[in-house]
Amino acid sequence: MKIIKLNAIDSTNSYLKENAIKNNLESYTIVVADKQTSGRGQLGTVWESDLGKNLTFSVLVKFVDFEITRQFYLSMAVALGVLAALKNKWDTKYYIKWPNDILADKDKIAGILIENSISGNFIKNTVIGIGLNVNQISFSKEIENVTSLKKISGIDFDRDQLLLDLINSIASYIKYIDAKKFSQLKMEYMNLLFKYQIPAMFIDNKDLVFIGKIIDVSAEGQLVVELENEKTRKFNLKEIKFASR
Ligand code: BTN
Repeated sequence: MKIIKLNAIDSTNSYLKENAIKNNLESYTIVVADKQTSGRGQLGTVWESDLGKNLTFSVLVKFVDFEITRQFYLSMAVALGVLAALKNKWDTKYYIKWPNDILADKDKIAGILIENSISGNFIKNTVIGIGLNVNQISFSKEIENVTSLKKISGIDFDRDQLLLDLINSIASYIKYIDAKKFSQLKMEYMNLLFKYQIPAMFIDNKDLVFIGKIIDVSAEGQLVVELENEKTRKFNLKEIKFASR
């Protein structure tokens, strides 16, 4: 494991993507920055984080035999790894909000952005970007339902120690992929999935509000929701969100 610490960078994910091949970086090279000037979130959103308060880092992982059809298991492994590391730091109820947001109770505490490079039918290199809210306690008004370790606990956390714990925890779940323990990953993921089997209000991409309950996540990573008429619908990332929390 090699940790590169930077004061500022556009995005730790972009840095690792650019340098992985160019500089032949080894698996488990980690880049952590105190400030990102263009931190990226899922679906082209911006990831905001106050200078030096939180953790914004990326991990390069190289695979030898990881089929693209199984890519959602990587999302599961990373989310489980982050959640397990947090559980050891502060005892509260943590959930994974599909596909891979980490909630502390009902509020988002960490986000994950995974970017794969593919060769044929295999994932070769992956860059796993994590933004974890650690010691920041006030957030801009536009960002709703967000929290941090300090907000839930009242205490300051040592970011260096937290970083090591997170990396080790994520690595221990990625070993499940190397060992092809996919059903174990799925079982642990479903056990921690927010609103699993609980009726909830959703909004689809046509702004239709409906009641349904999450009954599964497909092999491709789609959310499977049972509707009131007992029919099921599958959704991709941009196609559904919770109407309320
Ligand atoms: C999300 O929830 O939308 C995903 C957020 C991921 C943010 C992290 S911060 C470190 C890494 N570098 C980036 O530009 N993004 C990820």
